[in-house]
Amino acid sequence: MQAAFADARILILDDEPVNTLLLGRILTSAGYGRITATTDPHEAIAWFLAAQAGPEPFDLVCTDLHMPGLSGLDVVATLTRATPPGDFVPVVMLTADVTAEAEQEALTNGAQDFITKPFRPPQIRLRIANLLRTRTLHRQLRDHNDRLEVLVRERTVELEAARLDILHRLAAAAEYRDYTTGQHTQRVGALSGLLAARLDCGEETIELVRRAAQLHDVGKIGVPDRILLKPGPLTAAEFRVMKEHVNVGVRLLSNGSSKLIAMAEVIAGSHHERWDGSGYPRGLAGDAIPLVGQIVAVADVFDTLINERPYKAAWSIEEAVDEMTRQRGHWFSPRVIDAFLDVLNASPDLIEELQHALVDVDTRAVVAEALHG
Ligand SMILES: [Fe+2]
Repeated sequence: MQAAFADARILILDDEPVNTLLLGRILTSAGYGRITATTDPHEAIAWFLAAQAGPEPFDLVCTDLHMPGLSGLDVVATLTRATPPGDFVPVVMLTADVTAEAEQEALTNGAQDFITKPFRPPQIRLRIANLLRTRTLHRQLRDHNDRLEVLVRERTVELEAARLDILHRLAAAAEYRDYTTGQHTQRVGALSGLLAARLDCGEETIELVRRAAQLHDVGKIGVPDRILLKPGPLTAAEFRVMKEHVNVGVRLLSNGSSKLIAMAEVIAGSHHERWDGSGYPRGLAGDAIPLVGQIVAVADVFDTLINERPYKAAWSIEEAVDEMTRQRGHWFSPRVIDAFLDVLNASPDLIEELQHALVDVDTRAVVAEALHG
């Protein structure tokens, strides 16, 4: 007798006390030490339900087929319903009814084996040992699957973190060349997330906007330094090249396999559209502009205004808010500007906090370290 099986908890149900006693003795003499027996089907079901919910569930059930009140089939049906889909508790049907119909009915209704009375001890011992071995293998397989699932979840989280890290660094790389923009992409991401939250975009979209908005200017990788870093107004020809960053961004992000990249593509392609249709690249107007593009337009322009650029000094927050408000319904979506003003009114120090919160996360330092070791 293997120790694992000797430890098995076995429930015996038979309306004849002499049968429970006899079967109990056969199993005890075979080395099984944890046997519970009853002659009452309702009591058996109650014990089974209580045990399966606790730390020491039954490993096997032997039940009589013909009993007054509740038949063995009713008992099996109840026990099967109470057993979780991932678990396997074998049930042995015991009966003096030796007809093929009785056997078939028992086996099709959830019993795993069928033993006829009078009992033959060697047969009972073998069959019960076989069923307990099956239960053990089943549990080992389930535990193995559980471990694999945990492993897959861990790997998925790692992959997701790696993916986000790469995207973050891609955004940082695009920004790295423009020394004055600092943590512009991160602030645009943070403010865009706050605007999306104010506009009740839903938890998933808010998080996607927060991350995807950081890639809005990733296409600046394709803009030459002499234009990107020019300390003054651009000529018409230079501005045409600068505007190309939108198309480069869309091409870089096209056909992405994730919702995040798909949203980043939409943002890259629409963050320079204007509510009145005077923006680029497509001259879309009003709600023809994707909402995420409307949101990032507000966050991008506001952050650009309150920070220094090669071609301009930083504006005060008050000056910038005044200008943004003037552009409500012209450059910017009225409802996004309303959300922007709500966000600022709800937390007047927000912008200051945002500027300072990101001081420690210097993306240029991260990229420089990655490049130069
Ligand atoms: Fe841009």
